[in-house]
Amino acid sequence: MTDAPKKTPKPMKDLRPATRLVHGGTMRSQFGEMSEGLFLTQGFAYDSMEQAEARFLGTSPGFQYSRFGNPTVAMFEQRMALLEGAEAARATATGMAAVTATMLGQLRAGDHVVAAKALFGSCRFIVEDLLPLYGIETTLVDGFDLAQWEAAARPNTKTFFLESPTNPQLEIIDIAAVAEIAHAAGATLVVDNVFATPLLQSPLKLGADCVVYSATKHVDGQGRVLGGCILGSEEFIQKHIHNFLRQTGPALSPFNAWVMLKSLETLPLRVAQQVRNAEAVADFLAEQTGAVERVLYPWRKDHPQHELAKRQMTGGGTVVVLDVRGGKEGAFRFGNALEVIKISNNLGDAKSILTHPATTTHQRIPRPAREAMGIGEGMLRLSVGLEDIADLLEDLKGACAAV
Ligand SMILES: Cc1ncc(COP(=O)(O)O)c(C=O)c1O
Repeated sequence: MTDAPKKTPKPMKDLRPATRLVHGGTMRSQFGEMSEGLFLTQGFAYDSMEQAEARFLGTSPGFQYSRFGNPTVAMFEQRMALLEGAEAARATATGMAAVTATMLGQLRAGDHVVAAKALFGSCRFIVEDLLPLYGIETTLVDGFDLAQWEAAARPNTKTFFLESPTNPQLEIIDIAAVAEIAHAAGATLVVDNVFATPLLQSPLKLGADCVVYSATKHVDGQGRVLGGCILGSEEFIQKHIHNFLRQTGPALSPFNAWVMLKSLETLPLRVAQQVRNAEAVADFLAEQTGAVERVLYPWRKDHPQHELAKRQMTGGGTVVVLDVRGGKEGAFRFGNALEVIKISNNLGDAKSILTHPATTTHQRIPRPAREAMGIGEGMLRLSVGLEDIADLLEDLKGACAAV
């Protein structure tokens, strides 16, 4: 019997996002495995000396060494690119490796960067402390004030950098407007899209040139592995990222790539449920006025940039921020009373997580600068997970009573 003629499969980009996340990027070995192969190998054997030479010349397709590329990592990159609608993606060992490579890959001594003040602590370290050591100047601006972005641009400005919603204040920055200002100044725009996730906001469609992720957050989403990803046009990745990553070596482990490939299959389900839980948590906390001074959640009408959030996002996200009465003491009492919600510093996880930014993720920033960023001593960041909402609300009720 002869094999039935093979149908030409539809291009992945013509399938809908949830389908791409289950099937996108899959490369099967000769065994036809259903679950993506885990190629836990440092390198690859060549059939001949000629083939080795050709691989290094780039004239023969195939892998050489896992710092340069690996089939499991390549599947993860391809699936991320399909999710983001990006031409190209490169995986990194962590989110911070993605941010560092995106900055150092683009910049040279004498260049200038404009960044929003409201950045994750380590991102702020990169632009404020690290880049100046290499002769690169940074100007920090209030991201919500477009006039400041415009005024900060100089002839040597090479890139603008922001995150939105910001960590932890959940400030929303107008990505399309900042992209326009960056391009008019001859600069690129890089967006750290961790808080929004690729499902709720598409910076490339809003005009950004590059998107970076800590895949440690929602992409793994189950608190297991660290990872990062850089996405953009083929030209951007080739010009600024490809060789920098190959030579400097912050490569993603094939094992972590495999874990996250499997996680991507369930990302839409997890994020949708976490968003539903976060909305309910935000509304509940806003009613607890005896213990909670203020709740920030982009989908609530009382969020200062609610209209902008509705314009550039398709959901309010999985993180709720609250200012507890009584400053640090009040915040600590609230956290210490929790039973279901864990005290930790990841976010986007299946498990709900409470963080006190002033004493953990943003501790490095001196108090006056922290307060200027809107991070008070009573501020708590709550990453809402997949638990039953009734258990979460009961836990939060107990915490409010303890304040
Ligand atoms: C907004 C943001 N960017 C970058 C990072 C860094 O990611 P990683 O911890 O994977 O290096 C984090 C981590 O918390 C983050 O919240």
